Amino acid sequence: MSKIRAAITGINASVPEYILTNEELSNMVDTSDEWITTRTGIKTRHILKGEGKGTSDMGAEAVKGLLKKTNTDPDEVDLLICATVTPDMQFPATANIIADKAGLKNSFHFDINAACSGQIYALTTAAMYIQSGLYKKVILVGADKMSSIVDYTDRSTCVIFGDAGTAMMLEPTTEDVGIIDSIHQSDGFGRVHLHQKAGGSVKPASHATVDAREHYIYQEGQAVFKFAVSKMADVSVEMMKKHHIEPDDLAWLVPHQANLRIIEATARRMGIEKEQVMINIQRYGNTTSATIALCLWEWENQLKKGDKLILSAFGGGFTWGSVYVKWAYDGKNHQ
Ligand code: ACO
Repeated sequence: MSKIRAAITGINASVPEYILTNEELSNMVDTSDEWITTRTGIKTRHILKGEGKGTSDMGAEAVKGLLKKTNTDPDEVDLLICATVTPDMQFPATANIIADKAGLKNSFHFDINAACSGQIYALTTAAMYIQSGLYKKVILVGADKMSSIVDYTDRSTCVIFGDAGTAMMLEPTTEDVGIIDSIHQSDGFGRVHLHQKAGGSVKPASHATVDAREHYIYQEGQAVFKFAVSKMADVSVEMMKKHHIEPDDLAWLVPHQANLRIIEATARRMGIEKEQVMINIQRYGNTTSATIALCLWEWENQLKKGDKLILSAFGGGFTWGSVYVKWAYDGKNHQ
């Protein structure tokens, strides 16, 4: 019997309308378009506005569009996994809220938190449910309202992040396409360099934690940068070597969009050209759990069946990894 693999059979995204420019940020904190562009590559990011709007709203929008695009009856979906670091609430899982808003009634749902690697950790997890033969339709949501944990008085973090929601469908295939392999790693020591100080069980919310602005992202940028550059490149090169992928064989590197300099360093180490790299950080910034799917969604019409892709990410935790995907369909027929 042929091996069952999980194939990505559809992709969708929901991007909030409001665009926060470098110029607007320059009026909020001591920064400039020149600094942000040269240090990060970011020009604009999208921000979810409106009272009562959260991560689930972008996730549910993306899921509804995905169901339509893939002609899927919500009752057919077996499982929905949501990767996020900005859940609507501490509990219940945002995946449950998204499923409810999108009309999924016959499935179960849970969240995965692996910061910027959440989307690839969740992709591997979702693929295992398909490969095992247990489920036929799994939806993977990567969504974050980063603006809800960004301190807009801290110039070192507020210029980086944006909001977005994405959804992809995974289904079984016996063809030579789909999720071929994954390499994932974590190092809990990295938490000292990148975390949210309060709001968890160690330091629950109090007047003092709010006054000390401890509910926002705390990041030691340079330390994180150093790890991100080496680990994202290491794990991408390791995947190429493991599967004997020459630079010319690779259709696309789909990197997490944290910093243009990290993406360029990864591509250099892999020996690939910039034309082989999906980059949209200039328009969206770092949308954490959404970046990779946001790239796949934007490039969908250029993707061809059998294309070899390496998805690669590094994030808080620390967490990092790469996933080798052979694309399962001609994207231009799926718009
Ligand atoms: N505008 C102007 N100046 C700034 C700004 C700004 N927005 N931000 C920082 N600076 C200043 C600093 O104060 C510092 O000034 P000083 O030299 O007078 O002290 C100087 O610029 C250099 O600061 P660095 O922090 O060294 O700047 P760097 O070049 O490292 O860029 C950045 C900062 C963009 C954060 C970078 O370190 C980076 O991208 N780090 C990795 C981020 C990442 O990959 N995170 C993981 C994913 S996120 C997640 O998992 C949720």
